[in-house]
Amino acid sequence: MPEQLEISRGKGTGELLQWEDAQKMKYSWNVASEVMRLSPPVNTNFKEAIRDFNYAGYTIPKGWKLRWATCSTHMDPEYFPNPEAFDASRFEGEGPTAYSYVPFGGGPRMCLGIELARLEILVFMHHIVKRFKWDLVNPDEKFKHDPLLEPVKGLPVRLHPHHV
Ligand code: HEM
Repeated sequence: MPEQLEISRGKGTGELLQWEDAQKMKYSWNVASEVMRLSPPVNTNFKEAIRDFNYAGYTIPKGWKLRWATCSTHMDPEYFPNPEAFDASRFEGEGPTAYSYVPFGGGPRMCLGIELARLEILVFMHHIVKRFKWDLVNPDEKFKHDPLLEPVKGLPVRLHPHHV
């Protein structure tokens, strides 16, 4: 994460991260985005049809609940070539086609917390990269949906402090 190191090297002792710093963390956000493409924290939700419409030969009446799922596009090679592969560069430039990348949903009722979530993730990544090396206590720990994606044992890690 070259930009993380650049940002941390530009900071004096005790100097805090600023909003502008988070805006520069493009590569880190691409990595987080690719993690959320392959392992979306929320993998499905519902929408309500606000009028009758036709889709793929089906008539959906007003008032019906529709379930959408992240994997239907996140793992579709038409939108994400070689979808099983981890590749943060998918998010460079224009990035994915509209409504194909939906870990935060889409439309007028998409996640309200996206900017807070982005900030929290980037601040966490910054500090963990800057201050620690770490390894997993349970390298083969499984994840479950309950209903959000979570590690079954809470993902304990061993932290080894280091200084950049
Ligand atoms: C990685 C973190 C998060 C993920 C992946 C996530 C994902 C989602 C998804 C998929 C939806 C449904 C959107 C739709 O149906 O189109 C949603 C809705 C919502 N999220 Fe998040 N969320 C995250 C963090 C947060 C945070 C930090 C907050 C608030 C502090 C938040 C507040 C909300 C609210 C209020 C809604 C309902 C919006 C509405 O119905 O108008 N989320 N989120």
